[in-house]
Amino acid sequence: MARVSAGVYTSHVPALGAALDQGRTADAPWAPLFAGYEFSRRWLAEHVPDVILLVYNDHANAFGLDLVPTFALGTGSRFEPADEGWGARPVPAVIGHPPLAAHIAQSCILQDFDLTLVNRMDVDHGLTVPLSLVCGDAWPCPVIPLAVNVIQYPVPSARRCLALGRAIGRAIRSFEPDLNVQVWGTGGMSHQLSGQRAGLINSAFDHDFMDRLIARPDELAEISHVELVREAGSEGIELVMWLIARGAMDCQSPRLVHRFYHVPASNTAVGHLILQAD
Ligand code: DHB
Ligand code: FE
Repeated sequence: MARVSAGVYTSHVPALGAALDQGRTADAPWAPLFAGYEFSRRWLAEHVPDVILLVYNDHANAFGLDLVPTFALGTGSRFEPADEGWGARPVPAVIGHPPLAAHIAQSCILQDFDLTLVNRMDVDHGLTVPLSLVCGDAWPCPVIPLAVNVIQYPVPSARRCLALGRAIGRAIRSFEPDLNVQVWGTGGMSHQLSGQRAGLINSAFDHDFMDRLIARPDELAEISHVELVREAGSEGIELVMWLIARGAMDCQSPRLVHRFYHVPASNTAVGHLILQAD
């Protein structure tokens, strides 16, 4: 049977994609940040899974106000990098895994989570920047995108995200082929891109969030939107996607193999965790 072997959590700041694409990762302001991902690249090279399920949010590139799916699962076989206004990133297309994605859709919908099935969508920095940070220039395996609406209210609660993650974990573990699956959660950490509090960073909250994500995710499921926005900023709401990924790991005490935090990157605090299930 398939299993969830590890969870990878990381911010997905678009400026990191630009720094990578322009070969500026060793430049003074960026070097300490990218150094935090060197371990991750070595770790991934030694732990290449069969499939990555990558939880991210689209930033009005694949979806807009015409269509606002809360949870959109990429069931197609190929997803192109999105043009976010300055041309598509020069990175490979994402190859999906339609059989596992179809199984996750069936299993989750029968567990009362209504996923939207998307056979065609472009994937933006929310998905491609984490892959670049951890994998380098090429994607080592198929990737199933799960796009979560954290842009247009109403957005899903932390509680529902953790519960969806658990349903996804059950779905993966009931897929017959013996696949090694990693579930990645992206976005965050604290940041606010506009308004009076633009530039907000709350490092104390971020560290506490990482502590609790590792050991006590059920506590995080109780956080309301108002509290999350108050503490982590309007875009800090992206952290609910880390809860989906954490829920998919059926593991009370995962092994922490890497933890990194850096401020600032563009307007955000960058957080990064790698948890192994064994
Ligand atoms: C920034 C961060 C994000 O998570 C994002 O999606 C867009 C911009 C930023 O800090 O610039
Ligand atoms: Fe974002």
